[in-house]
Amino acid sequence: MKITVIGTGYVGLVTGACLAHMGHDVICADISVEKIATLQSGGLPIWEHGLKGIIDGARNENRIQFTTDMAQAIQESEVLFIAVGTPSLPDGNADLSQLWSIVVQIATVSQSDKTIVIKSTVPVGTSDEVEAVLRHLSSDPLHFEVVSNPEFLRQGNAVYDFLHPDRIVIGCSSSRARKTMSLIYKDFSVPIQFCDRRSAEMIKYASNTFLAMKISYINMIAGLSEKVGANVDEVARGMGLDRRIGPSFLQAGIGYGGSCLPKDTSALLALGKRLDHELPLVEAAVKINKEQSQLIIKKLRHSLGSLNQKRIAILGLSFKPMTDDIREAPSLSVIRQCLKEGAIIRAYDPLVHDYPLKDITLCHDEYSAIQFCDAIVILTEWEQFRHLDWERISQKLRLPLIVDGRNIFSLKQMEAICEKYGLIYFSVGRPTIFGTFGCDAKEKTSILEELKAAINGL
Ligand code: UGA
Repeated sequence: MKITVIGTGYVGLVTGACLAHMGHDVICADISVEKIATLQSGGLPIWEHGLKGIIDGARNENRIQFTTDMAQAIQESEVLFIAVGTPSLPDGNADLSQLWSIVVQIATVSQSDKTIVIKSTVPVGTSDEVEAVLRHLSSDPLHFEVVSNPEFLRQGNAVYDFLHPDRIVIGCSSSRARKTMSLIYKDFSVPIQFCDRRSAEMIKYASNTFLAMKISYINMIAGLSEKVGANVDEVARGMGLDRRIGPSFLQAGIGYGGSCLPKDTSALLALGKRLDHELPLVEAAVKINKEQSQLIIKKLRHSLGSLNQKRIAILGLSFKPMTDDIREAPSLSVIRQCLKEGAIIRAYDPLVHDYPLKDITLCHDEYSAIQFCDAIVILTEWEQFRHLDWERISQKLRLPLIVDGRNIFSLKQMEAICEKYGLIYFSVGRPTIFGTFGCDAKEKTSILEELKAAINGL
């Protein structure tokens, strides 16, 4: 089937590449001359695991093209996927300006019937409005089918998720659209849920919001676990073994970020507000998440006293591993606050080489970030941070403080490391580990206080 995908962000590009990989003839169109030039010359405007391989493969078989000529891209295909950005407006609502601009172009340049598939995350009711606008703007004999086909791709795993989805959701109102969509996804042996368009749009928001609630729920339990001396990882494991609850999205830490969960929870809250319908669970999830990243600051203040002139090494800047995306990353609020309180920040992330907060030093590896620092703070669970050379680290630290915002180490592992190198290890929702420094258990709890006094006296 000949398909045009409009928008080459991570959703559009992955969708286009994977559809081409599945045997369709795909045109990827974008108004960004820079992005298209990069793609045409064999590069990638975003980093996404496995994407280059499938684009190169599709290109070798002449199944994918990249263009800025929107009119031609619209005219040439019978099926048009819209995957443009729908960022948050200041009031939490989704900004649909890019979507409407494309819809108007489709109405004006189309010379044959089209099926328009909305992949972008849009407020409930948008597909119906798109159909009404197309009908209103276009000349009579042309027929437009509008379909809602939300995406459930995780950044960093997007290619895998596209090719191995748990389900495919298709909201459409005619048998003709259903037939077209069945052909597009004919090689997928997963449940395909056909439903009305509004329900399809709602499934997307309800799913992302539920994931956000799950994360905030475990983070709320983490706070309490810390106070009662429980280990939230054990709590999550025990909960997750109950099949009704399931183990995923129960990893406690400094909270969720990225372009999706924060944006979609805000959009759902804005929808509730508009319709005067309270969504207290979603409100709580958002509030808990906002406060979660500040836990790190509290832990740092508690152990270092004032952050003024303290050297803090930040490991990990992206909102999660396997991506260079820093949109709504918890690192932003943690670093902003540290800087506000006078801290000196040296940071390292394997993929982030450009960071909006310019008053920090971006280092070329973990060990250079750690040099003479007062605390190491782990904000993203990159695999390589699990294999740090503690001997080397212990020689570089000015103070032996490790704050793990993602619980990447087991307590057992850190007990041995802290004991060996005399480190203090804080994590989220788990007991703190103190290297003994040759003292007995009773004295351990006072070590931080002593440390604080010593630091203040420096
Ligand atoms: C999310 C959804 O998982 C996708 O299904 C959806 O398609 C996508 O949004 C979207 O709407 O486009 P994504 O934002 O790429 O995907 O990332 P996730 O893997 O969901 O992680 C989101 C955030 O939650 C990250 O900051 C991650 O560190 C955090 N997280 C995740 C936790 O803190 N704990 C967990 O247990 C899981």
